Amino acid sequence: MRRLVIVSNRVADPLLVGSSGGLAVCILDALRRRGGMWFGWNGEIVLNESEISTTSIKHDSCTLVTMPLTERDYHEYYLGFSNEVLWPVHHYRLDLARFTLEAAEGYRRVNTRFADKLSPLLNRSDLIWVHDYHLIPLGAGLRARGVGNEIGFFFHIPFPPPEVLSATPEHDWLMRSLLEYDLVGFQTISDHANFCRFMCDFMGGKMTAPDTLCVDGKYLRASVFPVGIDVESFVAMAQSPLADKRIQRTRLQAEPGLSIIGVDRLDYSKGLPEKFRAFRRLLEMYPDGSKPASLIQIAPPTREDLESYIEIRHDLEALSGEINGQFGDFDWTPVRYIHRAFDRDTLAALYRASRIGLVTPLRDGMNLVAKEYVAAQDEVDPGVLILSRFAGAAEDLQEALIINPYDVEEVAHAMRRAIEMTQQERVERHQALMDRIHQNTACNWMLSFLQALRSCREQHVADVDARNVQRRNTSQRRRSLVSFPELSSPSNSMGKLITGTKFGGESTSLS
Ligand code: G6P
Repeated sequence: MRRLVIVSNRVADPLLVGSSGGLAVCILDALRRRGGMWFGWNGEIVLNESEISTTSIKHDSCTLVTMPLTERDYHEYYLGFSNEVLWPVHHYRLDLARFTLEAAEGYRRVNTRFADKLSPLLNRSDLIWVHDYHLIPLGAGLRARGVGNEIGFFFHIPFPPPEVLSATPEHDWLMRSLLEYDLVGFQTISDHANFCRFMCDFMGGKMTAPDTLCVDGKYLRASVFPVGIDVESFVAMAQSPLADKRIQRTRLQAEPGLSIIGVDRLDYSKGLPEKFRAFRRLLEMYPDGSKPASLIQIAPPTREDLESYIEIRHDLEALSGEINGQFGDFDWTPVRYIHRAFDRDTLAALYRASRIGLVTPLRDGMNLVAKEYVAAQDEVDPGVLILSRFAGAAEDLQEALIINPYDVEEVAHAMRRAIEMTQQERVERHQALMDRIHQNTACNWMLSFLQALRSCREQHVADVDARNVQRRNTSQRRRSLVSFPELSSPSNSMGKLITGTKFGGESTSLS
């Protein structure tokens, strides 16, 4: 089997992966099954570039090869361009994007360094898979160093409409650098459609097949590969005796009312203040003194040096304080807001113990918490998933209660509906959702992407052959029509092609 080399900005700690975001969850699930190398940043920061060297650690069947960033890289590449330009723009938040030349330069510099450090570690037969917005130009960097292997790229985050993306200074070279990959993958049909529209309307490309683009004479495959979770192992985790003990320790059952769980990195894209306001609205809907539900919100810190993240933290602290002050009692804390990371076993236990999984991002690539919540449920007495229509997962998980996260009233009503839902309806919805998450597992995601990546070159050769045959046929027909002029009567469309200027046009579109 060919070695798989995965590259992402950050290589997650396998023990804390549950709180590191969806990318880490699905990469680790994929690597555990197949083995391979995972290359990226170890989360450490050093002062000078001279202190950067790679370290390799074996973890089960994967080798984690990591290196630090310099302080300057951290500010320019990671915080600056990746998270103050690309992240907000891809989440439709042009208002939060802050562009500087230094940040763009830092982004190029670190991508170049990734290419420098990675290329000597590669074998000719490796399949290379680059992940997410931090490393868009890495494929071009590897090509410039003579790497001829198949290289794929996957966007874990949304791909915005071209009208939004084109407001990013630098978007032109960035998008052009994607043409060096063999395959680019997206989470949803709408992300894929936005990308194709960008390539065709803004870069003069054209679709030569439903998942093939030709831009500037270069062919690129672009398809949808929705990420999933390792369902079996998550179900087992949620049902383990350890999970039972953890549930008892949380004393959730001792709380009045039902429990609602939310687990999101503390990011403005996750819609957390809107979620808290909707919960407050829910409490207002119930008559005095009743305690219908409490909300546990786990929000691990992320990108804490950025102003927009500091603000969201303050907003949430204030909101949870207000809600607890207004509705709390001696025996009841309505909102438990916890600003730290937990391991995946604990999260699985919490999901299972909660009647409602509340997933309300304003925009999200996929959102694997939604899928994990479903997998963790007791099939006889399952909880209800409330899911934002702006999460990629909503394209698939239609049996959840789908809501508009901006509409506080609608979200509050969905919570009320979930609290009052009959067991039979909960079971039916849960069964349907389980079927869905079984269709797109972490394993299927990885296999289908890698299979498409491997077949890109064959497909490309087949496409070129087909075009050549088509071209040959057209010119043969042209020759035969010239030798038999009676065929080129004015009523014959081929004849029009041959005799008129359209022939040139037609022939260009075939090339
Ligand atoms: C999202 C992104 C990932 C990123 C993760 C954690 O899931 O798509 O690429 O690794 O957030 O973000 P952080 O900035 O903390 O590494």
